[in-house]
Amino acid sequence: MPKPKVFVTRLIPEAGLEKIRAGCEADIWTDPLPPPAEVMRQKLADCEGLLSLLTERIDGPLMDAAPKLRVVSNYAVGFNNIDVDAATQRGISVGNTPGVLTDATADMAFALLISAARRIVESNRYALDGKWKTWEPLGHVGQDLAGRTLGIVGLGRIGMAMARRCRGGWNMHVLYHDQRPDEQAERELSAERVDFDALLARSDFISVHADLNDTTRGMFDLAAFTKMKRTAVFVNTARGPLVVEADLARALREGLIFAAGLDVTDPEPPRLDNPLLALPNCLVAPHIASATVSSRDGMAEIAADNLLAGLRGEPLRAWVNPDVVSRRKR
Ligand code: DGY
Repeated sequence: MPKPKVFVTRLIPEAGLEKIRAGCEADIWTDPLPPPAEVMRQKLADCEGLLSLLTERIDGPLMDAAPKLRVVSNYAVGFNNIDVDAATQRGISVGNTPGVLTDATADMAFALLISAARRIVESNRYALDGKWKTWEPLGHVGQDLAGRTLGIVGLGRIGMAMARRCRGGWNMHVLYHDQRPDEQAERELSAERVDFDALLARSDFISVHADLNDTTRGMFDLAAFTKMKRTAVFVNTARGPLVVEADLARALREGLIFAAGLDVTDPEPPRLDNPLLALPNCLVAPHIASATVSSRDGMAEIAADNLLAGLRGEPLRAWVNPDVVSRRKR
């Protein structure tokens, strides 16, 4: 039996590649930059499986150019880069990698929170630039963390892990905004479910963990930043387009909020003239929240398992569109 052909859009950890090579005829894109759209179309023309990254847009027209495609396995927990409805209509399974990056991402959210609140990167630059002349009673003053109020927007696994850190370590009061109430968070963390405006107005720290979709896109705009405290610290480890960046830059420049810590931007990478990169109270990291050995290995294993299960026509280990079964035509 010939092995099924798959296209893997980047080098991922061996923990996953080994399984993929063993089970498939794998064409692996080894360039560090994503394959151009036309290359994707050509590569997928005779592939049954695709392992994609969040940098690739997988839409209906691309799927139509891949008549044999049966599974798209995304090497990420987020899947806003994939038109899942289009995949489902075409009988294509979609997989993602939840669970294994929860702690790493919550750690990054907390690192950004404390770094932005305590002006750590800005101070480091000050020291490196030779500006440190003496101990300054009025210099580099930031925000306290202990006992303050944390607002979580999107209380899924990662939001909950972030809330646990802030509640357990810093005794913060936890507010959350989510479509659904979360009894465990309310019991375990005394978390309080509030509407969006109340969260903006009452939080000292706002950490975003929402999915990117048509209702959440641009939810952090000037109106939202204006409702925040002037001492607020805003953290985004979810997706860049949740934020209207020009509005965030204005809020930071005009002191509507204190600081921001961003692991994600819109687009990625940001243009070099993006004003957020030049603001001392904005800390930008290159989308590294899941970048730990165990998270990335775990993601590779799940992504490989999803790909192989989809090729066998079996349920995926982490299946975004299980309803595909009822619509399957091929
Ligand atoms: C994800 O998994 O969605 C992250 O953004 C990258 O690890």
